[in-house]
Amino acid sequence: MQTSYSTSQTYIDEFNPLDYFQTYYATGQGVFLGEWTNFVLQNMQETFGPGGVKGDILIDFGAGPTIYHLLSACEVFNNIITSDFLEQNRKQLEKWLRKDPDAFDWTHVIKCVCELEGNRNNWEKKEETLRRKVTKVLKCDALAKKPFDPEPMPEADCLISCLCLEAACKDLEVFTNTLIKFKELLKPGGHIILQGVLNCTFYYVGNKCFSSLYLTKDGLEKAFKEAGYEVVKLKVLPCSEKSVMDISDFESYYYVHACKPQKE
Ligand SMILES: C[S@@+](CC[C@H](N)C(=O)[O-])C[C@H]1O[C@@H](n2cnc3c(N)ncnc32)[C@H](O)[C@@H]1O
Repeated sequence: MQTSYSTSQTYIDEFNPLDYFQTYYATGQGVFLGEWTNFVLQNMQETFGPGGVKGDILIDFGAGPTIYHLLSACEVFNNIITSDFLEQNRKQLEKWLRKDPDAFDWTHVIKCVCELEGNRNNWEKKEETLRRKVTKVLKCDALAKKPFDPEPMPEADCLISCLCLEAACKDLEVFTNTLIKFKELLKPGGHIILQGVLNCTFYYVGNKCFSSLYLTKDGLEKAFKEAGYEVVKLKVLPCSEKSVMDISDFESYYYVHACKPQKE
């Protein structure tokens, strides 16, 4: 399906976080519960588990209204700065952080992560750890020259981002330029973990359709190379859940772990 590029204004006007929860993450019906969350949560556990990446500051770029991707990282970073472009998404993040009774209930996903980490009874402690470690919820804009302007940003040990750049970037050139801008947010040798979907042109949130950058594995590798990163690991998993095709037409999931070189 051809969908015209969803601009920043389209996101402001049409992206409803409650519909996003219902479509993708709600118990019993969320399209992403299953293959996507299993893929991401397993990768995060391997990345941030024993002997893995750790540090002081983690930047989470384009979280939307979600926190699932932070559940392993929160054990090994002191400060997590999360962010999204949209105020309506940041409000949902803040609701969850302050335990608002209206906040989305992530318990089912948190329990999965505890199970993966081999400590299934730990979920309430993990929730507390994540709430304590998130020190800021900032506005970010992948398309701005400095994505966090005017907020002064510390150099981070790691930046993670899930399903954001395919939404924000209209072509591979903008995607590559955004990766270049991310390097300025990282310490020398700092890590970047990017996860998302390949060969996707659209996704629905409720009854609103948004465009996606049609990213291929070759395009992804080219972008990281041109942006000057050292790729540590790249994984692609074909999607086998064809039942989701009317909600989104992605064909596979990807994970990239790369590093900013020590010297440029
Ligand atoms: C498909 S959602 C992904 C949300 C979440 N990271 C997840 O894994 O479910 C796409 C996200 O991209 C964000 N976005 C759209 N335009 C953006 C921009 N210019 N800069 C940063 N984020 C943007 C939207 O606000 C939305 O949260």
